[in-house]
Amino acid sequence: MNRLEDKIQKFAELILKSSKIVVLTGAGMSTESGIADFRSPGTGLWEKVDPYEFSSINSYIAHPAKNLEFMLETGRAIFSARPNKGHKALTKLQKLGKLKGILTQNIDRLHHKAKTKNIVEFHGNVMEAKCLQCGKIFPITLMVNQALQGRVPSCESCNGILKPNAIFFGEPLESSVLAAADNMIKDCDLLIVLGSSLVVYPVAWYPQKAVSLGAKLAIINIQDTDMDSEAEIVIHEKIGNVFPNIISLVEEKMENKEKN
Ligand SMILES: NC(=O)c1ccc[n+]([C@@H]2O[C@H](COP(=O)([O-])OP(=O)(O)OC[C@H]3O[C@@H](n4cnc5c(N)ncnc54)[C@H](O)[C@@H]3O)[C@@H](O)[C@H]2O)c1
Ligand SMILES: [Zn+2]
Repeated sequence: MNRLEDKIQKFAELILKSSKIVVLTGAGMSTESGIADFRSPGTGLWEKVDPYEFSSINSYIAHPAKNLEFMLETGRAIFSARPNKGHKALTKLQKLGKLKGILTQNIDRLHHKAKTKNIVEFHGNVMEAKCLQCGKIFPITLMVNQALQGRVPSCESCNGILKPNAIFFGEPLESSVLAAADNMIKDCDLLIVLGSSLVVYPVAWYPQKAVSLGAKLAIINIQDTDMDSEAEIVIHEKIGNVFPNIISLVEEKMENKEKN
C-alpha cells in the first residue's frame, strides 16, 4: 500500500467513526466543474484581474457597465457548470446518514444542483439578483437579459440597481448566515475542508472554531493551508482523485458492517 492509499483508508476510518460531519467547501471544490478559483497558481482569477476593481461594491455602483462585462464573462462558466464527482460524493455521504450539512464559500450553487441538503452559503449565490434599493430578489436571468441589451440592470418594482445576490468586497456577511454556520459547527464531530485556501475571513475561522469545540479536522486541498498542522489528516490532491474513493470505501465498510 502506498502512502496515498494509507491516507484514503485513514480518512475513511475517520468518517466511519464520526456521525455528525460538516463539510466546508471553497472554490477548489468547483475547479473540476470548469469554474476557476481565485488563488491557484497560473489559473486563479486573481492573477488575471484586480479583485477590488471588479468585485467590490463601490466599484460596481460607480461603474456598473464595466463590471457587468466581467461578470457576464465569468458568469457564463458558472451558469453552465454541472456538479462534479466531488459534489456527488457529498450527496452520497449525506444519504449514508453521516453528513449534517455544508458550509460553502462558493456562489455557484453546484451543491444545490447535486441535491445535497442543508447548505449554508457564506457568500450568497449568483443564480439570483438582488435590488440594491429595496432588497427584492429576482432570478439572475432578468439581470443578465438587461445587461445583454447594454442596460444597467434595474429592479422591476423600484428601479433600483440590481446586483448578483453574492457578497462583494466591501459588503458584510449576513448575520443570519453566520448564525446558521455557528449552529452547524457547534454540534459537529468532524469538519472536512475541501478545496479552500482558508485565507478569506471570517470563514477561515471555522476550522479553528470546530477544533476548539472538540471536533476533528480533515483537509483535502492541492496546496497546503495554515490549518494543516491542526488536522488529523491532510491530503494534497485533487478532490475528484481521492474523495469519491474515500466515500465508496465508507459505503462498502458500512454495508459490510450491516451484513455482519
Ligand atoms: N466556484 C465558486 O463559486 C467560486 C469561484 C472563485 C471564487 N469564489 C470565491 O472565492 C473566495 C476564495 O476562497 P476559497 O478558499 O474558496 O478559494 P481560493 O481560490 O482561495 O482557494 C482554492 C484552493 O483550492 C485548491 N484547489 C483548486 N482546485 C482543487 C481541486 N480540484 N482539488 C483540491 N483542491 C483544489 C487550491 O490549491 C486553493 O488552495 C471565496 O470567498 C468564494 O466566495 C467562488
Ligand atoms: Zn427594488
